[in-house]
Amino acid sequence: MSFTELLAIFGGFTVVFYLLKLAWKCWCGFRQFVLSELWHVDLRTYGQWAVVTGATSGIGKAYACELARRGLDVVLISRSDEKLQMIAKEIKDQYGRKTRTIQADFTDGQSIYPAVAGELQGLEIGILVNNVGMAYSDHFAYFLEIPDVEQKITQIVNCNMLSVPQMTRLILPGMVERGTGLIINISSEAGVRPQPLLSLYSATKIFVTAFSQCLHAEYKSKGIIVQCVAPLLVSTNMTKNMSVNCLVKSASGFASEALNTVGHSSYTSGCLSHALQDMALAILMPDWFRMSPFLMRKLRKFAEDRKYDIRVCEEKDKLGEKEE
Ligand SMILES: NC(=O)c1ccc[n+]([C@@H]2O[C@H](COP(=O)([O-])OP(=O)(O)OC[C@H]3O[C@@H](n4cnc5c(N)ncnc54)[C@H](OP(=O)(O)O)[C@@H]3O)[C@@H](O)[C@H]2O)c1
Repeated sequence: MSFTELLAIFGGFTVVFYLLKLAWKCWCGFRQFVLSELWHVDLRTYGQWAVVTGATSGIGKAYACELARRGLDVVLISRSDEKLQMIAKEIKDQYGRKTRTIQADFTDGQSIYPAVAGELQGLEIGILVNNVGMAYSDHFAYFLEIPDVEQKITQIVNCNMLSVPQMTRLILPGMVERGTGLIINISSEAGVRPQPLLSLYSATKIFVTAFSQCLHAEYKSKGIIVQCVAPLLVSTNMTKNMSVNCLVKSASGFASEALNTVGHSSYTSGCLSHALQDMALAILMPDWFRMSPFLMRKLRKFAEDRKYDIRVCEEKDKLGEKEE
């Protein structure tokens, strides 16, 4: 066999390998976002109650409402008792499900968990949604520019990271005992690859991604699914309620699509739009480009322009209110 023939065979195998890989990816995407619309898991089979952290607005509230709509009773955890009561009433009135509320501030760290454990005692918890999370700045910032950096480090680590294994530690034993359970951990696109100018936030989300994947590998044989959800932009308070479009999802639309993917994938962007954006970003923004000073300058400029636009809109709104 000549060298050219050998090269042709090698080339052929390479092409077939990549075509098979692409076909597999397409099938996984089709299953996750198209088939899942027609066939989704009955979430009630995991147990009577779902626990959602950070449940009074945005993605957490949307998950809580969607879980109640799908027949689960819901435990809501957040800081503001007033908001908790409001959402609990909304869920009772709209979906007729039972609710419990727990007031807790996850930035307080270790000290809150004995009280949370007490409130959860005796409940058959089938689903845990580790959603609570905070960002530290409304624009892309260098690490030392984070406002009150000393305090913020502890708060972000306690809220975005510590809450996930601590809540899991409280709820997982009951799931293991019953041989079934679902843990959904909300990470972020910034937790898929390191994101400069969001260094601390990005690192906490990378922790969530890694923890979820390891936990899934450890406990899937015991009947527990650990799903990591890594969204891009969802219109919530965290993203200044930016307008919904083909790239930015509404919280309710996102939660509904993301819950359909349960049982189809243990790692997901949550919705088709975000999965396609994730694929495009992986191709268009290789690591060297994402880490480059050029892109950092562009991100800063984009953030400054957006802040300016928001300020102008707010001033226009105020003027409109005065005229009325
Ligand atoms: N929005 C996005 O585009 C996006 C993208 C990727 C990932 N994520 C992730 O998705 C999750 C939810 O984000 P979101 O956009 O829905 O945020 P959000 O609208 O700001 O809502 C945050 C929720 O968490 C509660 N909360 C905040 N700090 C808390 C604390 N220290 N202790 C207890 N509860 C607290 C808030 O309620 P109270 O104020 O009543 O406590 C609220 O219910 C986060 O983990 C975030 O990192 C969001």
